[in-house]
Amino acid sequence: MCFILLIKSPLAGNFFAARCVNIRQSFRVVVDQVFNQSLDGNLMKFHTYSLQSVLVIFLLCFSSNTFAQVTLQTPNETVTGEDIFVVCTFCHGGSVQGNDRRDGPALAGLEAWYLELQMHNFKNGVRGYLAEDVPGQVMHFSSPMLRNDFTIKSVAEYIAALEPGKPMALNAVGPRPYFWDSPYAGLDSSISGNAEAGKNTYSSVCTICHGEDGKGNEALGAANLIYLSELYMTRQLMYFRDGIRGAHPDDVRGQQMAVMSKLLIDDQSIADVVAYISGL
Ligand code: HEC
Ligand code: HEC
Repeated sequence: MCFILLIKSPLAGNFFAARCVNIRQSFRVVVDQVFNQSLDGNLMKFHTYSLQSVLVIFLLCFSSNTFAQVTLQTPNETVTGEDIFVVCTFCHGGSVQGNDRRDGPALAGLEAWYLELQMHNFKNGVRGYLAEDVPGQVMHFSSPMLRNDFTIKSVAEYIAALEPGKPMALNAVGPRPYFWDSPYAGLDSSISGNAEAGKNTYSSVCTICHGEDGKGNEALGAANLIYLSELYMTRQLMYFRDGIRGAHPDDVRGQQMAVMSKLLIDDQSIADVVAYISGL
C-alpha cells in the first residue's frame, strides 16, 4: 500500500516522471529493504539499482505519520521545522551534522538566512538544476517536503538553533545506499591537501567573502564553511569550477562563487584550501 501511495504522491510523481524510473526495479528495492531492514548494514546490493532508490527507501523508513509529512501535498498547512526535522536526519545525519555516505552536508552550524536561501533554491530548481548534479538533484527532488515559505522559515530557524559539530569522518566509510556513476562519486579523496599552501589562497581570495574565520557573510550571501566536511567542500568546489553548481541563470550567488572557484587552478589547490578551512 505504501508503494502505491508513493507513486501517487506529488514527490514521487515528479520524480518518476522526470527520471523515467523503472518501477519494477524500485519495487524490488522496496521489497528488499522491507525484508532486510538493513539500511546501515551491507548495502552493496543496491549498487545495481539507480539513484532513485534512495528516495524510495528513505520514504519507507519512517513512521506512517512522517511518511504523510513528506508526501502529502497540503501547501497551505503550517508544518513546523520541529515536525519535519526527523526527515532531514536521514540524509544529513542524526544531529544534522552531515553524512557523507548519503552526500548530505552538515546543516547544524549554518545560519537561518543561508539555510532558507538554499531551500528555496532547491525547491525552485535553481540548485540541483543539471542532471550531472546527482546530490543536488536528490535534494531538489525531495524538496516538496519543504512545502511553503512558512515551513522553510520554521525549519531554518529550528536547525540554526542546533548545536554545531564537526562532521563525523566515519560517515564516509562504506558504500552509498545507491548507485552513483560519476567522476565525483569517490568517498575518499585521493589527494591530500597542504594546509599551509591552502592558507595563502584562502587569505588572498576567500577571506573577502567568507571571512578570515570562515564563518561567512550574510550581506554577500557567502556561506559559513567551518562545519562542512572536506569531502562535501571538495565536491562543491569542483562542481562550481566545472559549471555543475551555479549553472542556473537565476543562481546569482552561485554564479559569483563559480567565478571564484576558477582561481583554484587544479585539484591539488582545491585539496589545499579545503585542508586549511577544515582546520579553522
Ligand atoms: C533524500 C536525502 C535528503 C533529505 C531527506 C534531505 N536532504 Fe538536504 N540535501 C541532500 C543532499 C544530497 C544535499 C547536497 C546537495 C549538493 O551537494 O548540492 C542536501 C543539501 C541541503 C542543503 C544545502 C546545504 C549547504 O551547505 O549548501 C540544505 C539547506 C538542506 N539540504 C536542507 C534540508 C532540510 C531542511 C531537510 C529536511 C526537511 C533535508 N535537507 C532533507 C539530501 C537530502
Ligand atoms: C565574491 C565572494 C566569494 C568569494 C571570494 C569566495 N566565495 Fe565561496 N561562496 C560565495 C557565495 C555567495 C556562496 C554561496 C553560493 C550559493 O548560494 O549557492 C559560496 C559558497 C561556497 C561553498 C559552498 C558552501 C556550501 O555550504 O555549500 C564553498 C565550499 C565555498 N564557497 C568555498 C570558497 C573558497 C574555498 C573560496 C576561495 C577560493 C571562496 N569560496 C571564495 C562567495 C564567495
